[in-house]
Amino acid sequence: MTQELIKAAAYLLEKIERRPAPAGEMINTYLATHKYLKGEAKKEFLALVWGVIRAKARLMWAYPEASWQERIEKFFESGLPDVSKAPKYIQWEVPEWFLNHVPEAEKELPALLETPPIILRATENREEVLKALQAEGIECDGCEKSPFGIFLKEYANLKNTKAWKQGLIDVQDEGAQLVALDIGVEPKQSVFDFCAGAGGKSLIFAQMMQNKGFIQAYDITPKKLFELVKRATRAHISIIKIILKLEKPDKKFDHVVVDAPCSGCGTWRRSPNLRWNLTEKQLAHIVKVQGEILERACQYVKPGHYLSYITCSLTRDENEEQVEKFLKSHPNFRVIKQKRYSPYRTGTDGFFLSIMQKG
Ligand SMILES: C[S@@+](CC[C@H](N)C(=O)[O-])C[C@H]1O[C@@H](n2cnc3c(N)ncnc32)[C@H](O)[C@@H]1O
Repeated sequence: MTQELIKAAAYLLEKIERRPAPAGEMINTYLATHKYLKGEAKKEFLALVWGVIRAKARLMWAYPEASWQERIEKFFESGLPDVSKAPKYIQWEVPEWFLNHVPEAEKELPALLETPPIILRATENREEVLKALQAEGIECDGCEKSPFGIFLKEYANLKNTKAWKQGLIDVQDEGAQLVALDIGVEPKQSVFDFCAGAGGKSLIFAQMMQNKGFIQAYDITPKKLFELVKRATRAHISIIKIILKLEKPDKKFDHVVVDAPCSGCGTWRRSPNLRWNLTEKQLAHIVKVQGEILERACQYVKPGHYLSYITCSLTRDENEEQVEKFLKSHPNFRVIKQKRYSPYRTGTDGFFLSIMQKG
């Protein structure tokens, strides 16, 4: 089995290398079409593939002349190589240029190499949802910080559970739940989710608002909003209205939320292959787009109310510096809360949140 396993891993890793998509998606597709991999062999295969993805730079540094097949064999036989003499960016598995962009890189980047837990959000009473999951044999418990959070003690195929089919759970990292909770939307308020995507934030806002009030969801990619509608229906949420085109900012909102497109480096624990796709030029472009989005979104905030800026990034360019730039050209806004979440700080994915109040 060993040689077959290594060959299969080499084949899949080569595919992952060629496509700029999260590795998890490609691994799931591979498993769905290679059903012979099951039980212990599947576990071993997954550990090998994820292990190699997470150690790419270190394996290349330790075995510079070897082919990938040989590196995979080495990893399979002996685990991680000794890289104590390698440069820090190799040890931390990031492009060299990236080091200067992250505050406290020496603490943040090693933590970003860890394997993350699977976290769910209970869409109804968490204790009841925990009982329902446990009754189906899912080993899980409540998260410490988010009152909606549930962590899985071991991998489970959730889509087959009754809890999933009944809309009682959604997959969402605890950090994403916590930034939404920090924003503190309340029942009967109005919220404009300006970069709503498939609705991760809109759905938790609706839950916090007890499905009372109004959420307007916009995204530049309509396909994602249609997914949001499906998820809202599954979770019995009725207060979210999607818009496919921006209207003039005549109507203003209590909360405008910009969950901005970003480098995504805060989630590199989950998609470790994506760390090699980001370039310095792309980062600069992303920062520019974020600035333009903030510029538009801020026009929809009611006086005295809130503009919240979120990224799932650890870079200061996309976070503190972006907010400083915005405040310089918008002196009628002031920061009332600013926070970073990360694997190192909070054991969650990396998020940045700045809540600004309009004067
Ligand atoms: C971080 S994702 C949003 C995630 C979503 N809020 C959630 O919680 O699931 C950023 C989103 O911004 C959208 N986007 C990119 N450029 C945009 C723009 N100019 N205006 C509005 N949305 C934009 C992307 O399509 C993407 O869905």
